[in-house]
Amino acid sequence: SPIGVPNLRECQLATDRSVVGPLTTVQLNCCLPIPRSNVVDFTFGKYKATTKRLRMPAHKVGSNYIAKYRRAYELMRSLPQDDPRSFATQANVHCAFCNGAYKQAGDDSVLLQVHFSWLFLAWHRWYLYFHERILASLVGDPTFSLVFWNWDDQRDGGNFMPAMFLPTDSSLYDAKRNQANLPPTLVKLVPGITGNNSEIINQNLNAMYQDMVTNDNAELFMGGTYVTGTDLSNSTVLSAPLGGSIENGVHNAIHFWTGDITQPLIQDMGTFTTAARDPIFYAHHSNVDRLWDKWRYGLPGGPRDDHSDPDFLNAEFYFYDENGSLVKVKVSDALDSSKLGYGYPEVAADELWINYSP
Ligand code: C2O
Repeated sequence: SPIGVPNLRECQLATDRSVVGPLTTVQLNCCLPIPRSNVVDFTFGKYKATTKRLRMPAHKVGSNYIAKYRRAYELMRSLPQDDPRSFATQANVHCAFCNGAYKQAGDDSVLLQVHFSWLFLAWHRWYLYFHERILASLVGDPTFSLVFWNWDDQRDGGNFMPAMFLPTDSSLYDAKRNQANLPPTLVKLVPGITGNNSEIINQNLNAMYQDMVTNDNAELFMGGTYVTGTDLSNSTVLSAPLGGSIENGVHNAIHFWTGDITQPLIQDMGTFTTAARDPIFYAHHSNVDRLWDKWRYGLPGGPRDDHSDPDFLNAEFYFYDENGSLVKVKVSDALDSSKLGYGYPEVAADELWINYSP
């Protein structure tokens, strides 16, 4: 049966482990606030999109956009920790559903995990959807949109840590990043690749081509079946047999590349418990989300198909909305980003990896 929403009253410490270097285990409390009002069932009617949000590439937005973005995160960071809309709670949502704070709804011998399977793309889409709505409501601007970190762009300036996240006095800054990877260091879409810049660019394009173009069915690209009873406690970012190519490949690579390698778990971005404490996380996932749409509709050979198994479509998650209410959502409602009221511009540099020949 499909994954259901967990009982938030039964919460345990989350566990995280290092995947490189000496084994370090960290346990932390990322239990989520218990809602004071009833759970809201998501419908498109209740969450009407009044304006269309256009998510822009982080390296191309202007100073007014950045000022508003900073302001939004400043406000989010200033909310009390136990407010469901606070930055701390937002980060804990990721920790809680990725590091075993909750048991699966229908099988309490198994912990809930939203990575390493077909849930990955849809869960993160919903996560960004509500995160963006909260930021928009905090700045009082319904057009407020997340940016995307266009790390796959190997030609027009997207393949660096975006400048807007770098000033140390900004709400978009996070101290736990790899200081060796600040601009002008190019991103690496495969961990550990070496060579001069043109060799790195070439390997980055190859990685994009493999993850996006070669892996043309839902199983390979999105990930495999995860239902009630599926236990992924032995999966890690280094070995996730049910994980899709986009997750296991370029997505993980950016997490590793961004996190601070002097930290035992490559915090913040390099590990699930802390990844979403870095505002750059949401821009990273915005690009993953854009690439999902691109994979589905924008590649040669015509549209590709998402999973259509009811166990996929009917999986349910919890998120907090801009009113602090707990909302129950379904995977099937996440499959069309335009219905959710946002989209992405065409990115010309996509053609470089689409037309790459290995
Ligand atoms: Cu939930 Cu990029 O990880």
